[in-house]
Amino acid sequence: MVKIVETSVRDGHQSLFATRMTTEEVVKLCEIYDKVGYHAIEVWGGATFDSCMRFLNEDPWERLRAVRKVCKNTKLQMLFRGQNILGYRHYSDDVVDMFCKKSIENGIDIIRVFDALNDVRNLKQAVMSTKKYGGECQIALSYTTSPVHTVEYYVNLAKEIEKLGADSLCIKDMAGVLTPTDATELITALKKNTKLPIELHSHCTAGICEMTYTAAIKAGVDIIDTSMSPLSNGTAQPSTQAMANAFKGTEYDPKLNFEYIHKAEPIVTEIVNKYVKNGLLSPKSFQINPNILTYQVPGGMLSNMIKQLTDQGAMDKYEEVLREIPKVRKDMGYPPLVTPLSQMVGTQSVLNILNGERYKMCAKEIKDYLHGKYGKSPAPVDEEIKKKIIGDDEVITCRPADLLKPEFEELKEKYKDIARCDEDVLSLALFEAVATEFLTKKYNPQPEVETEEFDMYI
Ligand code: CO
Repeated sequence: MVKIVETSVRDGHQSLFATRMTTEEVVKLCEIYDKVGYHAIEVWGGATFDSCMRFLNEDPWERLRAVRKVCKNTKLQMLFRGQNILGYRHYSDDVVDMFCKKSIENGIDIIRVFDALNDVRNLKQAVMSTKKYGGECQIALSYTTSPVHTVEYYVNLAKEIEKLGADSLCIKDMAGVLTPTDATELITALKKNTKLPIELHSHCTAGICEMTYTAAIKAGVDIIDTSMSPLSNGTAQPSTQAMANAFKGTEYDPKLNFEYIHKAEPIVTEIVNKYVKNGLLSPKSFQINPNILTYQVPGGMLSNMIKQLTDQGAMDKYEEVLREIPKVRKDMGYPPLVTPLSQMVGTQSVLNILNGERYKMCAKEIKDYLHGKYGKSPAPVDEEIKKKIIGDDEVITCRPADLLKPEFEELKEKYKDIARCDEDVLSLALFEAVATEFLTKKYNPQPEVETEEFDMYI
């Protein structure tokens, strides 16, 4: 039997309509999902946290508690970016520890941790803290292809992950570039070399995902990530119903309860229709894009890049920038293109083309990366380019967070006028500007001015 993790209320709407599903919609669905028989429901983390406060004026912690309240039978899962938590910089170990503690206290069962560079030193604290507070820890390896990302590389990584104390392992194919043949080879090798349960997470962007899942299931994958249709496919995960139907009556049957799936379907349809109507869900998101297999660019990164080029009035350079991405990636030692590396490599490729000279200008993040502040690159970076950007500067070789002093108490003091609990401090630590605005409004509500429509000129 293959187990299923339902992703529609996290990755599904993050991939298809910029993470705008409201807490009310999420809770309504989770109440039904709780009876479907999933292994877990992915409900939190990734972009949901920022989006709650930034666009919906909602408290992400309250969402988690509300979901927990209606999910009595099913485990709740979140996505956690190692030492970055859900933000974009490295946080000190005590902040990572507090975030794991509060996530579990507020209702999370499984924390899926990953690091963009697969540098296990950046995962260590999150794993230790998750276990310490009684959570289940899954480590995700960021999947990509390159001359260094061989099956042997992933097998060695899996062995390290097992040693680190993870409860399960996930192949996180954020760009949807894993092919059926490679999935068979990779999962067969991983099954031989680790006892950990293996989960596969991919996206339908390139049009091959269901075939890849099928190959993975036959090779012995234990869990797959799917999304309830019609909130599925395109840049999101394969359809939950389609995968369950395809394996019905076989030894892999996930045995989902269709009575409850049919109860959820009209609600999902209504939600999807709402976001199509308000323009946030573009039909383009459902079009198959085979070119990502060549450029390895995740959907979110493409839309970012298109926006940067449009803002500069340089959309005519689009193809040129696309061709530059694999070159920048090679110069940087083949980092997998996942947040924050996807944005960094994307922006650098845009700069290289628009300036007409490679690395004439660099974002601060690329300099930090070359200084070793994000961890170890999968392959060595290009020495000549490194020299051009950071000269003979010293490069960090230790675990980057070892250089950070504990900061939680300091943050607590800093935000004492805005924050009313440790959860608020964490929201502020991760997204200072957004959380300041949100919490100030939350705790000092302004009475709404009543307006009545009338014609002044009668
Ligand atoms: Co994903």
